Amino acid sequence: MRELDNMTVKSDKKAGCDPRDDSFDLKKTTLRVFRTNTAQGKDSHFDSLVVPVQRWTTVLDSLLYAKSYLDSSIGIRYSCRMASCGSCGMKINGIPRLACYTKISELEDPVVVCEPLPNFPVIRDLVTDFTQFFNHHKSINPYIQNLNYDKTEKIDEVSSSHSHRQSREEVDKYLQFSYCIKCGLCYSACPTVATDTKFPGPQALAQLYRYYADSRDAGKNRLNIVDDRHGLWRCHFAGSCSKVCPKGVDPALGIQLLRSYMLGISKDKRNV
Ligand code: SF4
Ligand code: FES
Repeated sequence: MRELDNMTVKSDKKAGCDPRDDSFDLKKTTLRVFRTNTAQGKDSHFDSLVVPVQRWTTVLDSLLYAKSYLDSSIGIRYSCRMASCGSCGMKINGIPRLACYTKISELEDPVVVCEPLPNFPVIRDLVTDFTQFFNHHKSINPYIQNLNYDKTEKIDEVSSSHSHRQSREEVDKYLQFSYCIKCGLCYSACPTVATDTKFPGPQALAQLYRYYADSRDAGKNRLNIVDDRHGLWRCHFAGSCSKVCPKGVDPALGIQLLRSYMLGISKDKRNV
C-alpha cells in the first residue's frame, strides 16, 4: 500500500491524480483468485485478497500487486501490459477479458473474480494451455501463399524484395482481421468450441478469411481445410466471439463471409 502511494506521488502530476487532491480516489477492492495446480493434483479453490485500487488500476495491476505484496505464488501470464501480446486473457467477473485492458473502476463491482479462460486446459491458477488453440491457428496456414508473384515487378529498393502492391479497397477486405493478437478470448467465449474440440474456433476461421480475402494470396485449397462437419459448418452464430474481442475483430463476420464464398454467393476471384 505504502509503495503504491509513493509511486503515485512521484509520477502523477495531472489534476485529480494527486493523493493530496480531494478528488483523489484510493479505495480497496477484493480479488477472488482461482487457485489450482494440476501438476500437483491439488483441489481448486478461490483465494480472497484485498488490494488498493485507483481509477486507472487494471485487473493485471492489482494481481501483480497481490503477487508482490500478498502471495507470490499466484500464477499469471502477461507480457506487454498494453493489450498487444494477448497473454493476459482470463475470465473476469464472468466474461473473457484481457486483465491489462480491464480497469477495476469500470467493472463497478466491489469484488473482482479472476478465473482461467474457459475452453482451455488449466495449467496453474490463471495460466491456461494454448497448445490446441495454436494448433488450430497453424492448421489454416496463416501466411501468404503465393509462388507466382510477378517476378518482373519492380524490386523494392528498401527490402530488396518483390513488392505486392494493393489498392485501398483490397486492404479494406481483410484489414480488421489482421488486428488479431491471438489472445484466445473469442475461442474461450465460443459455445461450439466448448462442445467440439475439433472445431477450429472463431480465431482460426477469422484468420482463414483474413488470408483468403488478401489479394496477394493464391492458396487454392484454403477453403477445403475447414469444409467438414467439425469445420466451418459447425458454427451456430452465437456471436459471443465478436462481443469479447478486445481488438475490434469480428470473427463471426469472417465466418459468414467464408460461408458465402463456399456457397458461391460471393465470387472467388482465384477460380474465375
Ligand atoms: S479475434 Fe479478437 S478475441 Fe479472438 S484471438 Fe483475435 S484478438 Fe483475441
Ligand atoms: S499483457 Fe499483453 S495483452 Fe495483456
